[in-house]
Amino acid sequence: MDGSWWRDGVVYQVYPRSFADANGDGIGDLEGIRGKLPYLAELGVDALWISPIYPSPMADFGYDVSDYRGIDPLFGDIGTLDALIADAHALGLKVILDFVPNHSSDEHPWFRESRRSRDSAYRDWYIWRDPAPDGGPPNNWLSNFGGSAWTFDAATGQYYLHLFLDKQPDLNWRHPPLREAMYESMRFWLRRGVDGFRVDVIYHVMKDAAFRDNPPNPDFRQGIDADAHRFLPVHTADLPETQGVVAAMRDVVDEFPGRVLIGELYLPLDRLVVYYGENLSGAHLPFNFLLIGTPWDARSIGDLIKRYEAALPPGGWPNWVLGNHDKPRIASRVGAAQARVAAMLLLTLRGTPTMYYGDEIGMRDVPIPFDEVRDPFELNEPHKGLGRDPQRTPMRWFPRSGAGFTRSTPWLRIGDDVDTCNVATQADDPRSMLSLYKALLRLRRDTPALHGGDVTVLAASDAVLAYERRSAGDRRIVVLNLTDAPAALPLPEPTGVVLLSTHGDEVRGELRPNEARIYRAS
Ligand code: NOJ
Repeated sequence: MDGSWWRDGVVYQVYPRSFADANGDGIGDLEGIRGKLPYLAELGVDALWISPIYPSPMADFGYDVSDYRGIDPLFGDIGTLDALIADAHALGLKVILDFVPNHSSDEHPWFRESRRSRDSAYRDWYIWRDPAPDGGPPNNWLSNFGGSAWTFDAATGQYYLHLFLDKQPDLNWRHPPLREAMYESMRFWLRRGVDGFRVDVIYHVMKDAAFRDNPPNPDFRQGIDADAHRFLPVHTADLPETQGVVAAMRDVVDEFPGRVLIGELYLPLDRLVVYYGENLSGAHLPFNFLLIGTPWDARSIGDLIKRYEAALPPGGWPNWVLGNHDKPRIASRVGAAQARVAAMLLLTLRGTPTMYYGDEIGMRDVPIPFDEVRDPFELNEPHKGLGRDPQRTPMRWFPRSGAGFTRSTPWLRIGDDVDTCNVATQADDPRSMLSLYKALLRLRRDTPALHGGDVTVLAASDAVLAYERRSAGDRRIVVLNLTDAPAALPLPEPTGVVLLSTHGDEVRGELRPNEARIYRAS
């Protein structure tokens, strides 16, 4: 496995609705993505992960799949995807699709058939339960998007389970025919040359067979937290049986050489690493989102790196994520200057980095007025700051109306800093975020110590984090000032040259505000 693309390389997430609109309907599409493959190759990433493009009523923008083996006409057709894969491969890029096994759309033919009658051959493909004695839902399980996880179906007198929207009924992974159909859907795409999957909420697929109530969450903050956090998801997430499903998905992926299985996991560190599986028979990369929730300071991040490295199973390859389509953007979380430090952190840590589209030009969350909100989560639980539209706004390619994303009205507003925050303007500016990302990606690719070496945290002061990357005697030292004040180095200054600074020069000594550097250690 040493040196495989998903270990050495960098993954770039494309949210397809928002990347590039080729057909002018205001929504991004596959032809649009295809046209931007040369950009991604030049940027220097190795793989693109595309959020769901399958046929869908789009209640959750594609995370409600109504056919696991097709392409939604909004995005193109299967021929466009084939062409995109061929072009990507010709450019040396891998293509990772999203796979959504926990739930389908309620408009999937399986669910239509399942809800037709209690005797339907597809009844057990979903999770149906009788009402509680008072006629209410079978237990206290809550939907991640608010309200009960159960919806009553009057026609057959039972409730069906949905851990997300009522339009996203949960599939029954305890039912072998369902499992087989899903594995066969994975093979369908792998045969077409897809290089792997990012598996949506993989930790949710199994639920308690006895349907016991979840216990109350003592830390729940009324009016602040999402409704679902009233209870701890003891019986609806991360059940031991999940490991069998992950291992079986891995077996499917392993039928095809050189493919990758990535799991989406919002779990604490000790549980997250379990998804590497026994003897690494699980996900190649259980997504590590811990940077997203860790306080942005040198000691906390240094401590996280140490704890994560210590928790990895032998041979388990790490990975790091700064943001995605569900989380506020890094530039909004830490500010524009620290976003440059964050870029250096992400691209110099040990393990596969996943970038989120637009972060390479420093895109920030775009405030969306309530009457323009599209995200069902925000609509269900308004004004708690949970909405995900702000981080899903269109990619900016040019400083003009439509940002070069679309020639018509974009599905979400573009935002007002497009004059500076766009690819064309930043491509010509050696001090731009885009130029910094390109330099970092180039350096990472060219430097075995950075893409494959060991990591050791050397020091963390109040302000500065320092770590070393080492491979076969070749060492790089990374120092990051996590504050907006000048800061002394917490270790003797490396004698080797400054290879790259967020400030674009080779100044030595004390770090300037928001500066990070990579040294060659001699
Ligand atoms: C996680 C996805 O990333 C998110 O966007 C989606 O809403 C839920 N899973 C449900 O599929």
